[in-house]
Amino acid sequence: QSDENGEFSSAFKEMISDLPRRKGLHLNDLFQYQGFWYYPIFLDGVMRAQQHFQAQPSDVILCSAPKTGTTWLKSLAFAIMTRTSFDDSTSPLLSKMPHDCVPFLEFDLSHASINNQNRDPGGIPLLATHIPYSSLPQSIKAEDSGSKIVYICREPKDAFVSYYHFVARRMESLRLEEAFELYCEGVQFYGPYWDHVLEFWRASLERPQKILFLKYEKMMEDTVLHVKKLAEFIGYPFSLEEEENGVVEKIVKMCSFENLSKLKVNQEGKHREGTPVVIQNKVYFRKGKVGDWENYLTPEMAARLDLITLQRLSGSGLTL
Ligand code: A3P
Repeated sequence: QSDENGEFSSAFKEMISDLPRRKGLHLNDLFQYQGFWYYPIFLDGVMRAQQHFQAQPSDVILCSAPKTGTTWLKSLAFAIMTRTSFDDSTSPLLSKMPHDCVPFLEFDLSHASINNQNRDPGGIPLLATHIPYSSLPQSIKAEDSGSKIVYICREPKDAFVSYYHFVARRMESLRLEEAFELYCEGVQFYGPYWDHVLEFWRASLERPQKILFLKYEKMMEDTVLHVKKLAEFIGYPFSLEEEENGVVEKIVKMCSFENLSKLKVNQEGKHREGTPVVIQNKVYFRKGKVGDWENYLTPEMAARLDLITLQRLSGSGLTL
């Protein structure tokens, strides 16, 4: 695995050389590990997390596939958990982008040599990951771990269109039609998407106290209701007084796409500056709409993806 300078060890290079590989949307090779596709720098982090990460009983772990509402969920959970220290005029969310407020397990916490040392001792017990349920570090899933998992998913056509723009706006990449083919095959960063969603869905049915399963579209429909549900689930319920004082609505407003996307930090700042995967913050805030796929996919493409989704989710009780 990689050293402090991000150089992969020969053992890691040898290990990934044996894995199935496909060219991904970024035109770089994706490697298939435990059934899911990764770029090496993140796979390195996934393996480190699996080996070293020790969940704490108070941890809240936000899980998602890429482009399904991670940034929004991070901001909401962070605002909920820090509301006794900050309000909507002092929150760190106003000067730091949500990804810089909530560490990312397979990068921020495991890229340095021993991941747990990267946790801020005075920090809030909140972290996020894109790791699929089956590959999560054992300490997170353990029956006695105490930590909570919150999963967010999104309608696949919108998730695809969002991911396509996330990459195509920044670098040379496949054309939309080619990217679509790969997505349908499941060859996508942390894909196949349906497997990612289904694993958390099934786990949430088996362990409802441990895993809260959320949908981006439902949260858009009634954000206040979902923020209350989220706060209750992670052990930070709103008091009657807080509800009467409009604290929930203030959090919803502060974390809204309209508000976050206009902040200077999210328009001009950069995430992971100084690393090979630096990204402008504004790329994380594109439109924040439900149904934007209609502007990019032909009716044939949409019907094909809908059919795959129907087939893949069949019998699960889940609809997307
Ligand atoms: P679009 O590309 O469809 O606009 P992720 O955070 O998992 O990377 O997902 C990114 C998607 O969430 C993008 O969707 C982005 O615009 C949207 N998003 C970002 N912040 C949001 C917010 N506060 N509320 C709702 N959607 C948000």
